[in-house]
Amino acid sequence: MTQRFVMDPSSDRGVYSLLTALVTPRPIAWVSTTSAAGVDNLAPHSFYQIVSTSPPIVMISTIGEKDTARNVRATSEFVVCGAPTRLIREINLTAVEFAGDVSEFEAVGLTREASERVGPPRVAESPYALECVSTEIQSVGNGTVIFGEVVYVAVDMEVVDGGRVRIERLDPVARLGGSQWSTVGEIVELPRVDLQQHVDCWNPPVKLVGKGRPHGWADSAVDTDSARDIVEHAVTEQV
Ligand SMILES: Cc1cc2nc3c(=O)[nH]c(=O)nc-3n(C[C@H](O)[C@H](O)[C@H](O)COP(=O)(O)O)c2cc1C
Repeated sequence: MTQRFVMDPSSDRGVYSLLTALVTPRPIAWVSTTSAAGVDNLAPHSFYQIVSTSPPIVMISTIGEKDTARNVRATSEFVVCGAPTRLIREINLTAVEFAGDVSEFEAVGLTREASERVGPPRVAESPYALECVSTEIQSVGNGTVIFGEVVYVAVDMEVVDGGRVRIERLDPVARLGGSQWSTVGEIVELPRVDLQQHVDCWNPPVKLVGKGRPHGWADSAVDTDSARDIVEHAVTEQV
């Protein structure tokens, strides 16, 4: 039987570390806001997700009282900028607790780019911007959950090819537990299986894109020779 490390959050204070180490990797929203006094603020938030696609709504959650939440309350606007690996140091520096009258744009040396529909600027160096108008702000435990309708999307043409986002060009960096971060690593293509295909026992091929270490995959439910070739080839390449 599997031995489990267990924790009862009601009596153990280590739950933040454990949850953030388990719920990984988390995408990073690099959130631009503007204070009531007109100071542009920028901070990374890894408690970030899509919650609706029609209308398009994203959420971020700030733990404790932060400038980001204060500014969204004041202006109802924010911009989620993409967080690429090449800017990992800058992203990290924007998490420094600067005084409220200091803008991270100047403090970290980033360039403002005017947004189309909202006041807070985009980060010019970032590959995408989701311009958002907040629809709801909810207190949940010690979190302030900010929901924002995406009213405009701008993506750097360099990361788009044939109308599709190329993940290797977007190169998002993600948050793990503690002070660990991660990059995208191995990319796998696996089509969805509908019910009829499942009944017919159709196993779509697992396609590895690029090099990697597909541990144990050679034995997984892949029944096409070509997919097996791809897996075995990738394993061989790594040795
Ligand atoms: C990669 C990364 C992700 C973070 N994610 C969050 C988060 O999801 N929620 C949060 O409250 N703080 C998060 N932080 C910490 C905030 O960025 C930090 O407290 C920052 O100073 C908040 O800035 P603000 O007060 O200008 O909003 C994160 C920090 C880093 C480096």
